[in-house]
Amino acid sequence: MPRNKIKKIKICTGAGCKAWEADQIPVHLGSLRELIEKEGYEVHLVSCINKCGGGACVQMAPGKKLFKLREPQEVCRILEGSLQPAVA
Ligand code: FES
Repeated sequence: MPRNKIKKIKICTGAGCKAWEADQIPVHLGSLRELIEKEGYEVHLVSCINKCGGGACVQMAPGKKLFKLREPQEVCRILEGSLQPAVA
């Protein structure tokens, strides 16, 4: 599979997102491990993606949908499809 087609969940670990408890997001994803594997996602911790503010940034790939989480457990709603992206 071409590298740019791999499904990824990118969690920003920059200082701005850490202030929104970004470091807790992988903990909540742990409860969804089976679903993540079934859907074929890779989880990546990334440095600042220059979208700071308004919540912890999670970017989905391919497509670059950006979510800003005000609570780390909201990451589960991304996979459920019930959270609206900040930028589509
Ligand atoms: S610190 Fe996360 S987008 Fe900048």
